[in-house]
Amino acid sequence: MKQQIGFIGGGQMAEALIKGIIASGLYQKENILVAEPNDFRRNHLEKVYSVRTYPHNHTIFDASRLIILAVKPQTMKSLLEDCKDRVRPDHILISIAAGLPISFYMKTLGKKETKMIRVMPNTPALVLEGASALSKNDNVSDEEMRLAEEIFLAVGEVVILDEVHLDAVTGLSGSGPAYVFSFVEALIDAGVKAGLTRIVSEKLALQTISGSIKLLRESGEHPAALRGKVTSPGGTAITALHVLEKFGFHGIIMDIVESAVIRSKQLGKLE
Ligand SMILES: NC(=O)c1ccc[n+]([C@@H]2O[C@H](COP(=O)([O-])OP(=O)(O)OC[C@H]3O[C@@H](n4cnc5c(N)ncnc54)[C@H](OP(=O)(O)O)[C@@H]3O)[C@@H](O)[C@H]2O)c1
Repeated sequence: MKQQIGFIGGGQMAEALIKGIIASGLYQKENILVAEPNDFRRNHLEKVYSVRTYPHNHTIFDASRLIILAVKPQTMKSLLEDCKDRVRPDHILISIAAGLPISFYMKTLGKKETKMIRVMPNTPALVLEGASALSKNDNVSDEEMRLAEEIFLAVGEVVILDEVHLDAVTGLSGSGPAYVFSFVEALIDAGVKAGLTRIVSEKLALQTISGSIKLLRESGEHPAALRGKVTSPGGTAITALHVLEKFGFHGIIMDIVESAVIRSKQLGKLE
């Protein structure tokens, strides 16, 4: 059985991780500690997940070695300044805050021995289907990194990368759900334009997307090969794909990811 795990911040993302950790049996409920100033959120987490909650952070640092920092990026500096005297050399700090580089935590805490892991998760983690990228500093051992990896495996897929790649991750999987939601929305509108009711169009569009992903995963085939199989000579799909390529679909997707990567780099430099 694992030791205790502490969360600083009991918001949406912390809740998703707690849900996944409990469902996977990684930690017992009574070994999950959450510091959260909001009474409503504390009551909610206690009632739904039977975890132990506290209105302040100090108990968490005293009781847990593994600590997940799950507050908004704009709150992080004051949180670190408030807690820095309680951070011990054996603590493993895992931050899920978007955009803040490991150097930010090291500078604010002012302790060169701090074990720091930075994670870029995405919103499907809320339904245990996330994609998370993890980076660590040199103070974190491979064994300690495996403890962090297990947590994020409980809410989806995990990759471990050097921090230099986290801007690319932000552009692809971090912001990715926004692109997918836009695509689905457009597909639903297109069905409505073609004469379907919104309810029918929504049902068909969603199932088409999730079914296609399942087919991709289960067949193991390249997307281009599967696309080839649904394009019969002179048919509807190839006619539609012609329009897609005339407007530069591949180029647009590559441009949007690239623009998000550039923005992520800009935001990181502001810290
Ligand atoms: N949601 C996502 O899909 C997503 C995706 C990728 C990354 N992230 C990252 O995950 C982090 C958390 O996001 P979220 O969506 O879970 O935010 P959230 O729902 O706002 O949760 C943050 C929680 O932390 C609490 N808090 C604020 N200051 C605190 C302190 N000093 N000590 C303890 N708790 C404190 C907040 O309480 P109050 O509301 O009372 O301030 C709030 O309940 C963010 O840094 C975000 O960048 C989120």
